[in-house]
Amino acid sequence: MQYAEFHSGFIWTSLTTAIAGGFAFGAYLAVVIAYGFPAGRGFYALIQTHGHLQLVGWAGVFIMGISLHFIPRLASFPLPHPERVHYILWLMVPGLLLRAVGGAVLASFEESPLFVPLGWLVGASGLLEAGAIVLYVSLLIGTMRGSGSIGKLPALSAVKPFFGMMAAGWILYACLNLFLLLHMALTGDIAVNSGWNEFAIHAFISLVLLPVAFALSVRLFPLYLALPAPDWPVYGIGYAFLLSVLLQLVPAAPPLAGFAPDVIRLVIALGTLLKGGVILWFVWQLDLLTRRRPLGRHARFLDTGPDRPPTRPGLPDYGEFGRFERPVYAAYTWLVLGAFMELLGGAAILLGYSIPIAADAIRHMYLLGFITHLIFGASVRMLPGFIRRKRVASAALVDATFWLGSAAAVCRVAPLLSPAWLFDRLPASDLLAQTIFAISGTLGWGAVVCLAVNLWQTANAPMKQPSGANWAISIAHSRSGKRPEGGGLS
Ligand code: HEM
Repeated sequence: MQYAEFHSGFIWTSLTTAIAGGFAFGAYLAVVIAYGFPAGRGFYALIQTHGHLQLVGWAGVFIMGISLHFIPRLASFPLPHPERVHYILWLMVPGLLLRAVGGAVLASFEESPLFVPLGWLVGASGLLEAGAIVLYVSLLIGTMRGSGSIGKLPALSAVKPFFGMMAAGWILYACLNLFLLLHMALTGDIAVNSGWNEFAIHAFISLVLLPVAFALSVRLFPLYLALPAPDWPVYGIGYAFLLSVLLQLVPAAPPLAGFAPDVIRLVIALGTLLKGGVILWFVWQLDLLTRRRPLGRHARFLDTGPDRPPTRPGLPDYGEFGRFERPVYAAYTWLVLGAFMELLGGAAILLGYSIPIAADAIRHMYLLGFITHLIFGASVRMLPGFIRRKRVASAALVDATFWLGSAAAVCRVAPLLSPAWLFDRLPASDLLAQTIFAISGTLGWGAVVCLAVNLWQTANAPMKQPSGANWAISIAHSRSGKRPEGGGLS
């Protein structure tokens, strides 16, 4: 059986969309909102364009690339039609481009005769993206089906519910996005219906991004971060998570808005409470932040000798991927914070109280804090291997990505969580909070640029490296300073 090579086009598409579109728009939005600059009706269209580009173009396309490489190997069955992987990008790239350019231009062309054709161009982006998504999901389903008796593959069957949610979530989002854009073009509106847009974003985060992040974490981090192999009911947690998402999502569908609002509010609160609880339980079991459990078996990286210098303390690598664990730990810290906020908010409503936590803050804890930091950490650890390099080009850039990304997330979220009395008591705290919020986008943009430069340099480094133990020894010496650095591991 022949597995297809890694298709790095997904990674470059994701990074380009983030740098030229999603994060750049985010930086502009943050400045305008922070300082209260005048924003017309088109501004809301820009917010939607930012959200869509970040969800689908940055996080979604990145996940597509990784999963098309990873899932066939997990399922022990190659993609049935590897040549179709190219078509996904051929559809997705123009789709994202039309949405980015169309969305931005539409916002400023409201009174122009070009408005109607531009609206239809943005509608066409939905069609192209939907085509790419259907192709992607059908390829993954083909692999899953081909893997035959799933019972023989415990590694896959444990995370199957998460992949099932991911497939359903992609298709649901693609359909909603397409219909919303067509409806916008038909009615000559500048932005898509806000209620349905909220619903689609919520569905994408809860059914695509979170489940796939959980599945990849369960399968990859025991290996990369020397965690004990999962001996807990991953499968059961997957279904509990699905139940919580359905309770939170279904009653929030716009057509149900008018029916029994009190009951709907309570069901959503129950789902929110359950979702927060299930995520916290998942993180506890994963043991990534807590490190309670010893390794289940003897790990080879603990064996040292003349040919096998010690690895980094507690980790199975020699530092050749930089301190990639930092963004991963940061990601899980943000996830815990987001889940805790949901748990608290859900419990408060069920008990008859209301805690004013901005939904936008929780959303960005998950998206900028968790998903984006997970991409920062996992990409520098995984991608060099996928493209046949043994190390990342610069450990310093891994650190820069981590610091800038963390600063961005704190600046984006902290001003929204600060209590009102703080602003009353501290002089000039208003201006401070505004400025912190305003710079968050530029910091996030800088983090992604550092990641892109690092991955680009990694991809352009020569393929051949010192092999086996020699490699480990050269890295260990360069870390201890016994020998001049062999070039690159800054
Ligand atoms: C530092 C980086 C970021 C900045 C400065 C930023 C800024 C913003 C701003 C100002 C809004 C509008 C909030 C409002 O309506 O009050 C927004 C909305 C949104 N952002 Fe971000 N964001 C960033 C990162 C991200 C990331 C990484 C993602 C996803 C992976 C994301 C997804 C979204 C979504 C889905 C919305 C809602 C869009 C809508 O209402 O249609 N953002 N962001």
